[in-house]
Amino acid sequence: MNDPLQIFVETYGCQMNLADTEVVLGILTKAGYTQTDDLARADVVLVNTCAVRDHAEQRVYGRLGDFRHYKRENPGLVVGVLGCMAERLRRDLLESESHIDLVVGPDEYRRIPELIENAVAGEKGIAVRLSRVENYDDIIPLRTDGITAWISVMRGCDKFCTFCVVPFTRGRERSRTLESVVREVENLSARGFKEVTLLGQNVNSYHDGKHDFADLLADVARVDRSMRVRFTTSHPQDMSEKLIRMIAGHENICNHIHLPIQSGSDRILRLMNRMYTCTEYLRLVSRIRSFIPSVSLSTDIIAGFPTETAEDHQRTLDVLREVEYDGAFTFRYSPRENTKAWHLGDDVSEEVKIDRLNEIIEAQRGVSYRRNQRLIGQTVEVLVEGESRKSTSDLSGRTDTNKTVVFPRGDAQIGHYLNITIERANSATLFGRPVLQARQGYGHSKLAANG
Ligand code: SAH
Ligand code: SF4
Ligand code: F3S
Repeated sequence: MNDPLQIFVETYGCQMNLADTEVVLGILTKAGYTQTDDLARADVVLVNTCAVRDHAEQRVYGRLGDFRHYKRENPGLVVGVLGCMAERLRRDLLESESHIDLVVGPDEYRRIPELIENAVAGEKGIAVRLSRVENYDDIIPLRTDGITAWISVMRGCDKFCTFCVVPFTRGRERSRTLESVVREVENLSARGFKEVTLLGQNVNSYHDGKHDFADLLADVARVDRSMRVRFTTSHPQDMSEKLIRMIAGHENICNHIHLPIQSGSDRILRLMNRMYTCTEYLRLVSRIRSFIPSVSLSTDIIAGFPTETAEDHQRTLDVLREVEYDGAFTFRYSPRENTKAWHLGDDVSEEVKIDRLNEIIEAQRGVSYRRNQRLIGQTVEVLVEGESRKSTSDLSGRTDTNKTVVFPRGDAQIGHYLNITIERANSATLFGRPVLQARQGYGHSKLAANG
């Protein structure tokens, strides 16, 4: 018997792509392939790609260039492009990059084993049909054991924000059944996972025919009360009061909502087809805070959308300070072919976009810093996730509000919860030390030794 072919996968883009890579690996291992982290051993290289901004695509092109060189020395290597760029560029990819053997869009991953077989036999392949029903409900994603897992609960998007390629690369919105998601969470709990993040481009519009997203959250939260439940992304228009109450009512549903505003200008919001005004958004924020006072909010913002004026930009800065987000992902507008906004042109110069983006980043840094300073002296519960990035003698974890906390290792264990008193903070990270917990055997001397 031949050794199984070894697959090397690289993933770009959002968490949904990470989750999709696990689905792809689930499909491939079932078909008899094995995964490798070592490119030198790979028979097949798959790149799971993102098309949301030009920059994301350029990074993938750079990487495909590396693989072109690599393939010259290893002519038998099969190279495949998966994901949103595959869906967007389709046959063009095969034509422009001669070393690519297969191009597979997000709804055709079941066909990858067959396409790899063909490629090994020398035949290139493309599969980019979008589906109204495919949700990989029955596929068991291949996950390495760990603390946190992602679960796609829905695919596609029907919102059609005018700047966005996702509805074109991922197709129409469709939800998995509540039962299959709950079963997956039960398995993860049994394997020792401590946190799940439910994923969708707009989880708030999840509906499996019988249950909405609030129902799903409640059932997932009930599986294992020692497991944290997170979710992303929430479109402001679909944030129901039922959902807000559900988050407030369950201890283990995290008090963090990613609620992208995109712009603070009503005129720009209209051009973006976001379907809310700034006032409506702010009203929603107050409603959320009245139910969940300790909630942390994060957002996405685009700088330099077509026709954006200095005044529109000012509105964005105003709203960012008014909401006081805990964090923001900020982007320069990147025109995407075939979207509605593409036809509005791209009249804000790159220079102005960069200036505005930097102003937004600076403003948010100030807001994050002030919010984090307020936590000094408070005790927060942290799920210990691993070593801190900067020092092996420190561990790091996150609060329920999704803030990173760094603290001395002591005898803390990864995967456990720990109460940490915050001692200092910058705009990105909180620093503290474990609270004395007599029952867990922390003693003064030990804590002193940690210092
Ligand atoms: N479904 C999610 C995320 C989609 S992509 C949502 O609705 O929030 C993540 C973010 O990328 C978007 O929120 C938006 O801020 C940004 N983005 C999308 N298309 C973009 C474009 N053409 N140019 C710049 N940023 C973009
Ligand atoms: Fe894109 Fe808007 Fe859908 Fe998010 S909600 S994926 S920004 S179309
Ligand atoms: Fe990118 Fe596709 Fe995600 S375009 S952001 S990988 S849905």
